This record gives sequence, structure tokens and C-alpha cells, in this order.
Amino acid sequence: MQDLSTSAAGSMPLPVLDYTPQVAAQTAAMYQRLEQVIPEIEWPVHAPYIAEIERLKKERGAIVLAHNYQTPEIFHGVADLSGDSLALARLASETDAETIVLCGVHFMAETAKILNPEKTVLIPDLRAGCSLAESITGADVRLLRERYPGVPVVTYVNTSADVKAETDICCTSANAVEVVESLGVDRVIFLPDEFLGQYVASQTEVELILWKGRCEVHERFSGAEVRAFRAQHDGVVVLAHPECPQDVLAEADYVGSTSGMIGYVGDQQPRQVVMITECSMSDNVAVEHPNVEFVRPCNLCPHMKRITLPKILRSLQTMSHSVEVDPEIATRARRSVERMLEVGRGAGR
Ligand code: 13P
Ligand code: SF4
Repeated sequence: MQDLSTSAAGSMPLPVLDYTPQVAAQTAAMYQRLEQVIPEIEWPVHAPYIAEIERLKKERGAIVLAHNYQTPEIFHGVADLSGDSLALARLASETDAETIVLCGVHFMAETAKILNPEKTVLIPDLRAGCSLAESITGADVRLLRERYPGVPVVTYVNTSADVKAETDICCTSANAVEVVESLGVDRVIFLPDEFLGQYVASQTEVELILWKGRCEVHERFSGAEVRAFRAQHDGVVVLAHPECPQDVLAEADYVGSTSGMIGYVGDQQPRQVVMITECSMSDNVAVEHPNVEFVRPCNLCPHMKRITLPKILRSLQTMSHSVEVDPEIATRARRSVERMLEVGRGAGR
């Protein structure tokens, strides 16, 4: 990953904008929707960027894709489309826009570029990494293949293009069980998230060979913490992400991807809910469901939080940081991502 300090655009000062009466009027209706998750005192800081990003997006023919962990002023303020990792990969493969600004982490932008080699894919901060993606290299996958000859490799999309290129098929937390079972084999190498792998293993007869990668956000939750939420909030419904440790998942009422959790809240409308996942998710979902009370644990993903409105604006102004993937690696990585997308289509989704 490129060091931002070596990038000219990265060292450019962030744009500073004023909250004018015109911006206030232009963004008033939006603030009404967001007032329960963004304090009034903060709105004059965000609103000028939202207005200018909206204008520049149109001028550039750009589209903003945002992951569910982005802050509400990004998620509800400037994103044209949003979703979990699987949805972002699908949306990136379907958009007609010439430029995609990916508000998420680097592997997400790289996946968008792999699927759209002819398009410009921008990430507002190149340092937005991921502890899972950092946990494994393409060379590690080649060594595993030598150790387990003939065993297919399923890789979580939270990995670099190098790793995807060494993979038979990718998966996300939304489709991991389906992808593993689609191969029709007794044993697979499942990389790199150990906890997601343990969860998938509990849902299938297929034997999984695991790696010791961890999400630094989800590994911090514990079963004891979930029990404490239940003790403090009578009847609270617990939704957990499968990147959490097994003792957390054992305590949950529902286990699923970020979009799976959003779907659960929309369908079931629980009186009170706790989402055992990254901090901003609850804020983003609360905006859509004001009648549901959210208990909010706050484990922030420091990588997701590198993306801010001023950096998104700078990204559009300077058309940086353009994500590039070596064409030979991209071709092989594309095969494993597209194979994953085909699994969903085969199931009629
Ligand atoms: P999903 O949105 O696919 O559930 O992934 C969660 C995550 O941690 C992405 O970085
Ligand atoms: Fe990676 Fe975890 Fe952050 Fe997602 S939440 S980007 S898996 S470190």
C-alpha cells in the first residue's frame, strides 16, 4: 500500500469551507433527518463539505459508494449507494459512472478497481487498511497450496489483490457458507478470518482449514460483554457480526453481515437492539428506524474512520488517490471475485 506521505495529493492541505446561509438552507432538510445522530453544533462543520461534494460529484460524473461503517454524515450525507462488502462489490460491477469514490477501506477500493479496470477508482485516504487484509500475503497462500495439494482456497474479500489472485473463489460474510458449499468438496482452505471460519464451520459439513487472521474491531467483543448488555437492557435483541469470537456468537439472537443486521432490524422492528459490530452502524441504521432503540457499544474501526468529508472533497478535487492494480494480478483476482458474484446469481439474487 502506498504511503500517503509520499503522495503529492496526500500532503495537500485539506480544503476549508465556510457554513454560509446558502449552505444552511440547502442542507436544512438533510439535517432534520440526521439530528438524532449528529449534534447540532457539528452540522456547520459537515454541511459545507456535503454541499460542495454533491456539486463536484455531478461535475466529475462520479459516484460515491460507502460501506455501512462510514460515519452518518458520509453514509447519509454524500453516498449515492451503500452496503456491505458484497453489495459494494456488486454495485461496483454494475455502475455506469466513470469515477467511483470508495468510502471504505483499501481492499474495497481495490475490489472495485479489479471489477472495473477501465474506470477511475478513488480512495480518499490510502492508509485506510484492514487488520484482516494485513494478516496474509499471496506467498502465504502459495505455501498453503503446497501443504494441502488439491484443496480449493476460499478467501474473504477482506484481502489484497495479491491474495485474491491466488484464490479459487472469494466470499464475504454475507455469502461465506453458500460459497463454501458451492464447491461441492469435503474440505476447503478458508482464509484469513479465523472467527468467520469457525462460524462457517459451525454451519456446514465441509471441513475448513483456517488461518489466524482477526478483525481488530470484532475480536475485542466478548460473551461476558453481551451478557452484561442483556442484564442491563431487559429484552434487548442481540445481533452479531461473524467476525466476532465464538463466545459472542453463542450469545447472539442473530448472526449476519452488516447488511444482514440492517435487514433484521427492518423486518423485525425490535423494541431495543444491540449490534455487536463497528460503532457507526447503529447510528446509520437508527436514522432509518427512529422507533427502534439502539444500545450502542462503541468499537471504532480506525481504518474506516480515516475517511472524512474533507478528504472525500479533496479526492474529487485532485482525482486522487487513484487505486491501481497490476493488470496480471487483477485478471487473476477478478476471476475469484466474479466467481463469487456468480454464486449469488445462481441462487437467483
Ligand atoms: P460486511 O459489511 O461485509 O459484513 O463486512 C464487515 C467488515 O468488517 C468490512 O470491513
Ligand atoms: Fe478490517 Fe475489521 Fe476494520 Fe472491517 S472493521 S475494515 S474487517 S479492521
